[in-house]
Amino acid sequence: MKVLLAGGAGYIGSHTAVELSKAGYDPVIVDNYSNSSPIAISRCEEILGKSLTFYEADVTDKEALRAIFTKEQPDAVIHFAGFKSVDESVRMPLLYYRNNIDTTLSLLEVMREYDVSSFIFSSSATVYGENAQIPCVETDPTGGCTNPYGWTKLMNEEILKDAALAITNLRVVLLRYFNPAGAHESGLIGEDPKGIPNNLMPYVTQVASGKLPFLKVFGNDYPTVDGSGVRDFIHVVDLAKGHVAALEYAKNHTGVEIFNLGTGRGVSVLELVNAFVDSTGVDIPYEIVDRRPGDLAEVWANPSKAKELMNWQATKTIGDICADAWRWQSNNPQGYE
Ligand code: NAD
Ligand code: WQD
Repeated sequence: MKVLLAGGAGYIGSHTAVELSKAGYDPVIVDNYSNSSPIAISRCEEILGKSLTFYEADVTDKEALRAIFTKEQPDAVIHFAGFKSVDESVRMPLLYYRNNIDTTLSLLEVMREYDVSSFIFSSSATVYGENAQIPCVETDPTGGCTNPYGWTKLMNEEILKDAALAITNLRVVLLRYFNPAGAHESGLIGEDPKGIPNNLMPYVTQVASGKLPFLKVFGNDYPTVDGSGVRDFIHVVDLAKGHVAALEYAKNHTGVEIFNLGTGRGVSVLELVNAFVDSTGVDIPYEIVDRRPGDLAEVWANPSKAKELMNWQATKTIGDICADAWRWQSNNPQGYE
């Protein structure tokens, strides 16, 4: 079964390409490399010991998509392509709304032309918004997003729900990722943020490597286990396997289904720092600073629906996440450059 991975050269897409291929699927990667590198694809090929099909194209370009659909005749689409920086989305909202929504519309329109019905979408825990109830359950209310990036995820969910109401054979799976982290255990692929990382784990690994002097812990006065923020860090390989499970699920279900992809365990920022030191032996100097605006005290998933309906659950520990993230960072101090 051929699966088109829009944005498949990125962090989550590249790990998913590997897991799909290992599970017997045939991934076709489409990416414009706006936040990735073709080297990620050659690293996937190295892990798999075989070549992959890939195209450099903008997913908003329907003519380019038609040419790819004509040649490849994919059976399903997984849509990772989008911009993902919360900060940048506040500064450049129109860019985010344009890219993150146009990619979805173009894919859906071309899928209709080619009678492709399965669509897996990279959504985010951010759709639960600032009033999130913890642990988050798929039936909880959404909205109250605190930035344009978050709204693009929620708007995409609504677009996909409406499309599935009107197009009877459409099969949509909305995957709400919690905090993806870690890297493939080979150390060949991983997260390669441009500039200074916004997210915790790449920041920690760059402190460990000496690229950044110390970690700023955003707040130690939250009502949590140790005062620092609590998140549900999910190993990117577990997350990638969630996409394989979602494709299997979509084979037998029309309409829309929503799944949280998280571990169900909250880990605080300071617990993560300690886990990193324990599993790598590398010290992480840190300072407590003010809370970061827009951050919530705790966000973690109830992942039982994914276990029940897709037989998927995360298996890797926070120690695995830290060890694998560090292997990737130390083997590739400049990322894919
Ligand atoms: P990423 O930036 O590494 O991957 C996204 C890929 O899409 C990149 O390779 C980029 O070059 C490509 N892309 C962007 N716009 C494109 C376009 N118009 N045409 C073709 N390619 C385009 O990000 P990621 O961490 O792998 O995230 C994948 C998806 O998951 C994104 O939609 C993101 O919003 C979502 N998500 C990520 C996280 C996270 O913390 N990483 C959490 C929740 C949801
Ligand atoms: C995690 C925790 C910070 C950096 C974001 C997006 C979300 C999703 C995942 C895409 C928080 C603390 C962080 C640092 C710190 N992305 N922290 N020092 O904010 O949970 O989620 O990425 O959908 O939409 O909002 O992730 O990794 O930025 O932060 O103390 O230098 O680490 O305060 O408690 P977040 P994060």
